[in-house]
Amino acid sequence: MEIVVSGIRPTGNLHLGNYFGAVKGFLQMQHEYDCKFFIADWHSLTTHPRPLDIQASTRTILSEYLACGIDPEVATIYVQSDVPETAELYLYLNMNAGIGELMRTTSFKDKARQQLHIDRTHPTEGDVEREIFNEGNKHSVSAGLLTYPTLMAADIIIHKAVKVPVGKDQEQNMEMARRFARRFNATYGVDLFPEPASFYYSHKAVKVPGLDGSGKMGKSEGNAIYLVDDEKTIRKKVMKAVTDSGPTEPNSVKPEPIANLFSMMEIVSTKETYDYFNEKYNSCEIRYGDMKKQLAEDINAFCAPIRERILEIQADRTLLDRVAREGAAKARESAAKTLQEVRQIIGFKAY
Ligand code: TRP
Repeated sequence: MEIVVSGIRPTGNLHLGNYFGAVKGFLQMQHEYDCKFFIADWHSLTTHPRPLDIQASTRTILSEYLACGIDPEVATIYVQSDVPETAELYLYLNMNAGIGELMRTTSFKDKARQQLHIDRTHPTEGDVEREIFNEGNKHSVSAGLLTYPTLMAADIIIHKAVKVPVGKDQEQNMEMARRFARRFNATYGVDLFPEPASFYYSHKAVKVPGLDGSGKMGKSEGNAIYLVDDEKTIRKKVMKAVTDSGPTEPNSVKPEPIANLFSMMEIVSTKETYDYFNEKYNSCEIRYGDMKKQLAEDINAFCAPIRERILEIQADRTLLDRVAREGAAKARESAAKTLQEVRQIIGFKAY
């Protein structure tokens, strides 16, 4: 079976957009590939979380993925920091990674501007380089941020993965991963690492719109419905969604906020419900209040069983610890095998 690796950044709760955009793909993939999903807690250090928050957010993500249906008996799910082999490979890869190529990646530049407190909206030629070397700047950029792509490459090739499900924003990191894999092979004249390909299952994924009238659902936009949201919260959020005064001509084109409500309905409601409100819209008889009430109910019907499982799993430390421990053991077995070969190839003792 082809090996699939994907890292999940432990940033807050999963929302409906994450579910239909990514998690649902994982649920299907776990049966078609040898999947290794991990929680990228080392990567999260680039934003300096507090010690207690690290474990709490790891547990949150783990509970939510399990509640959604990631099956630890089928896929390997583990915590990145539980597999030290990755860090060793990261060290080796860094020895052949160029500071220049790492500095040129756009996500580095963007995050560096943020950390150096320089204007991100109007970047200028050489601004990052200038400020990094400016001793007067009291802000600095960590080497960890610079080598984020090296760590990501290590995550992937430590398992010799060939497919990596990621969002479009990860394309440059993926290009670096392929480059580092190729470079290792070329440097030592071996054929150890296959080149990992990005895997966009998003053509099958549904884009979930936000509730504030435009764009897609995202944490930062404050327009998200989280899988753990309770019924009351869901209702409140949906009822607050932007609408307008309604169509005046039959069969009008739907403005974005309205089209978004319908898209949401298409995802969570039955076809009959969708058709009913669509007809009401087309005949200018729609009452958005009724539509939103129905939508809130259907969203809740979808979220309720997941929410219950999340709460159950999150309270079960024994289960969470066991899943993490067993996941780590499986991941380390695969990682250690690769690392043995790597050590031998580079010239170290393999043990
Ligand atoms: N960089 C990815 C993101 O921001 C997370 C990630 C870390 C990852 N390591 C990975 C994704 C390895 C895929 C494979 O979403």
